[in-house]
Amino acid sequence: MSLEREMSELFPQLKRQVRGQDLVYLDSAATSLKPHPVIAAVEKHLSMGAANVHRGAHALSDEATAAFESAREKVARFLGAESKNEIVFTRGTTEAINLLARSLGGLILNPGDEIVLSQMEHHSNIVPWQMIAQETDARVSFAPVLDDGSLDFEGFQALLSSRTKIVSLVHLSNSLGTLNPLSKFFAEAKKHGAVCVADAAQSAAAMKVDVRSLGCDFLAFSGHKAFGPTGVGVLYGRSEWLEEMPPYQGGGSMITEVSEQGVDFLPPPHRFEAGTPPIAEVIGLGVALDFIEGIGFERIVAHEKNIYRMAEEALAGIPGLRRIGIAPERSHALSFLIGKSHPSDVGAILDEQGIAVRAGHHCCQPLMKRFGIPGTVRASFSVYTREQDIARLAKGLKKAQELLQ
Ligand code: ALA
Repeated sequence: MSLEREMSELFPQLKRQVRGQDLVYLDSAATSLKPHPVIAAVEKHLSMGAANVHRGAHALSDEATAAFESAREKVARFLGAESKNEIVFTRGTTEAINLLARSLGGLILNPGDEIVLSQMEHHSNIVPWQMIAQETDARVSFAPVLDDGSLDFEGFQALLSSRTKIVSLVHLSNSLGTLNPLSKFFAEAKKHGAVCVADAAQSAAAMKVDVRSLGCDFLAFSGHKAFGPTGVGVLYGRSEWLEEMPPYQGGGSMITEVSEQGVDFLPPPHRFEAGTPPIAEVIGLGVALDFIEGIGFERIVAHEKNIYRMAEEALAGIPGLRRIGIAPERSHALSFLIGKSHPSDVGAILDEQGIAVRAGHHCCQPLMKRFGIPGTVRASFSVYTREQDIARLAKGLKKAQELLQ
């Protein structure tokens, strides 16, 4: 069976009608659609397996704990981590970076130290660092982005010094679709002794992401962009670091002993998972990773490449359309403007035709400022994106162009 046929059977939402028309879903960078096996796993846990984890005085709790911890093992294998203890479950990429900024940042940053980010970061990889920088009197600097949407390696090199303590960079840009060669950037940062963090929110489900080949100390991604449920994400951290880091939140399930005099914490990863975790969501994420591995990254990448090329060709035929982000290595998300139209107007006209894209700054205001624009229209793709979706996008954009010119 072709991948397109296979996927159309697996993603129920593809059969939806929106505004009286067949849905064209081109907003996978915001969140992916969910396949049947993930929906079934979450439903099964909620309907028949509900129990808390790590508190097992009964069979149901043991069962839930085993399913939960087996998902942790899957994530570790998926990312090439050395041990499942390097995998911390969070609410998403945003919480993973907040945890890191507060715990690691609080541990290693001193006044005058530097955190190096880039101009193409999502706010979730900017604001937590700005907050901890304010508290510790550290500074945040931004590696420049070139006109084509690539990260400027020389500009990045120029920011590095012995004061650089943390480098945190996006792998695959949610706004531009630029794929950054992070291993090269991290190897450079390591020469200065910096801790390297990869934001893999967009890449984790789109290509093989291996923490060892990236050369990162930490990596974050979200379940909901990887065919899993919302409310769950992952922070990978090298054991040497996680063992040093203090907890981010306090509560149940993260202690060995609490007394009136004080508290002793569990080792990682449990030290970072206070309270009842998102159990159904973690189980769903494990099944989402099985789903990805079942298709295989070779097919996923080939499909996205084909769809991306078709979309680029289709967009090239729209008068007045200006692409933002044409780095040599790009995929997944494609940003553009039409003439002088506001991105939201284009988005609204597409929406009327049942075509879901995102319009706006994509939580990347420094990047939009860099390009001197208020935002872009963004179409983003996934393994279930069909050739007919690209044809509908092209038709929808022609209509938008006529209405807005
Ligand atoms: N980060 C998500 C996006 O780019 C929400 O749309």
